[in-house]
Amino acid sequence: MTTVSSDGAESASDIRIRTAERADLLEIHRIEQAVFPQPWPFSALESYLGESGFLVAEADTDDGPRVAGYVIADTVPNHGTPLGHVKDLAVREDNRREGVATALLRRALSLLASAGAGSAKLEVRADNEGAIRLYRQFGFEHRKTIPNYYSNGEDALVMVRLL
Ligand SMILES: CC(C)(COP(=O)(O)OP(=O)(O)OC[C@H]1O[C@@H](n2cnc3c(N)ncnc32)[C@H](O)[C@@H]1OP(=O)(O)O)[C@@H](O)C(=O)NCCC(=O)NCCS
Repeated sequence: MTTVSSDGAESASDIRIRTAERADLLEIHRIEQAVFPQPWPFSALESYLGESGFLVAEADTDDGPRVAGYVIADTVPNHGTPLGHVKDLAVREDNRREGVATALLRRALSLLASAGAGSAKLEVRADNEGAIRLYRQFGFEHRKTIPNYYSNGEDALVMVRLL
């Protein structure tokens, strides 16, 4: 089992948060396909390689280290002050509820703030209660709803927080 210290710090004994590398992409793509009804294609994930906001949580297992989860966040210009955008976040099914997403999100938001972003936004499926609860814990607030945002007709909640 993966453990992250109570404050979600990535210094915990058996999980490390680091920048994603090319060698991680196949694993990330597999997780992406396993957890999302409309996964990002490999090429989209690949296009974020080298971006500081593309992070993985690496966990030790008996077979060696593996990717437990990942986040992709970047900034977009917004009237002078960049806006942070959390674009993708997923944790492998058997590493959930262990603080992995918390550790990833904490580091990603800190990087966005360092990049000068004044606030961060994200879109989440309206029925994704677990993710919405996680984001609320981070201070994200529901700002608006975009009807039919997803190709299956589902609405997206846009959530925003100051950094
Ligand atoms: C949402 C997701 C990223 C959460 O990852 P995680 O590593 O399990 O999250 P954490 O362990 O850091 O959870 C922190 C807190 O968030 C809330 N939370 C997370 N998942 C939850 C769930 N399924 N149900 C209810 N609350 C949940 C809880 O309050 C949790 O604290 P607790 O475990 O002490 O109760 C993960 O379930 C996932 O990958 N889901 C599929 C992909 C997805 O929906 N991504 C988000 C797209 S916007």
